[in-house]
Amino acid sequence: MKSTWTINGQRKAIDVPDDMPLLWVLRDVLDLKGTKFGCGEGLCGACTVHLDGEPTRACLVSASEVGARRITTIEGLSADGSHPLQRAWVELDVPQCGYCQAGQIMSAAALLAEKPSPGDADIAAAMNGNLCRCGTYLRIREAIKKAAAMAAARPSAAGSAPGAREEVR
Ligand code: FES
Ligand code: FES
Repeated sequence: MKSTWTINGQRKAIDVPDDMPLLWVLRDVLDLKGTKFGCGEGLCGACTVHLDGEPTRACLVSASEVGARRITTIEGLSADGSHPLQRAWVELDVPQCGYCQAGQIMSAAALLAEKPSPGDADIAAAMNGNLCRCGTYLRIREAIKKAAAMAAARPSAAGSAPGAREEVR
């Protein structure tokens, strides 16, 4: 299929098989390798991206299902790593091996867009499907709270890339 997608605020022409998973298109065709392959079955969350702001497992969506929806990957969350979540992740030294973290941050970004000041239960519910073999869950929770506080203090810092600006309020 030939189509033109909106990815991270930019229009990209693609020509891929209908049934190619979005994750494959992102990594192997568009060279956006920040989004990771974990299980390939929707069970780990490593491949989480946003479709029209909704956290979505890219391994479960075929190219033909994307349609006109805006795609945001970890590369599009901010142009320079200045998104509050990215800064909080660095400040609290959240990652261990790092493999799951792009998916964690994308799920957290969708949560903050929906609930700017999430409580523990909100965080637990939103992050439930994102697994971390290194067990960084406590730091993830604290980083989400820190990012929420940062965004509240400087709302304009919530996203600097075109794709992210629309999603993180
Ligand atoms: S690789 Fe998509 S959920 Fe695990
Ligand atoms: S940091 Fe290693 S899997 Fe999460």
